[in-house]
Amino acid sequence: MIRTINIPFSYIEFENHEELDSSDRELIIAARETAVNAYAPYSKFRVGAAILLKSGIIVRGTNVENAAFPSGICAERSAISNAVSNHHNDKPIAIAIAAMTEDGLTEYPVPPCGNCRQVIAEEESRISGQIRIILSGKNKTIIMNSVSSLLPLQFDKKNLKVNLP
Ligand code: THU
Repeated sequence: MIRTINIPFSYIEFENHEELDSSDRELIIAARETAVNAYAPYSKFRVGAAILLKSGIIVRGTNVENAAFPSGICAERSAISNAVSNHHNDKPIAIAIAAMTEDGLTEYPVPPCGNCRQVIAEEESRISGQIRIILSGKNKTIIMNSVSSLLPLQFDKKNLKVNLP
């Protein structure tokens, strides 16, 4: 039998910054501030990620590029490494992402790359919970409840048949 499977995908879109929750606004501001610290001499595309932990702590990460291009790391993975390294048992509940070109903040939200989606998905699995994804541009913010919306049919530990916690 042949079947078509539909995977629904919905997110909330905000055109006005004032409509956002104050804690989401704060996280976006942290991501924007962090983007300024990026080391992106090659692409000149600076990205900031800010992760809100259950305790209320905000952990940040930027993209850090390298002359050997593949050695660079994206902001999201940099922030997750920071969270896992320094706050191992404090679960991430949301991540905000903002990006800047040489002209300033991007007009529209920048979605995480495939590698980062995969790493955020593994983090959701590590914490057995969902991480809200907040993608923010100057003129629009979009929010979804989990990275699984951005990464359907994801490859994870079940595929390896690994019985990890
Ligand atoms: N970048 C991120 O930091 N996050 C993403 O999800 C997409 C891309 C960085 C990598 C590189 O330093 C620059 O943006 C241009 O691709």
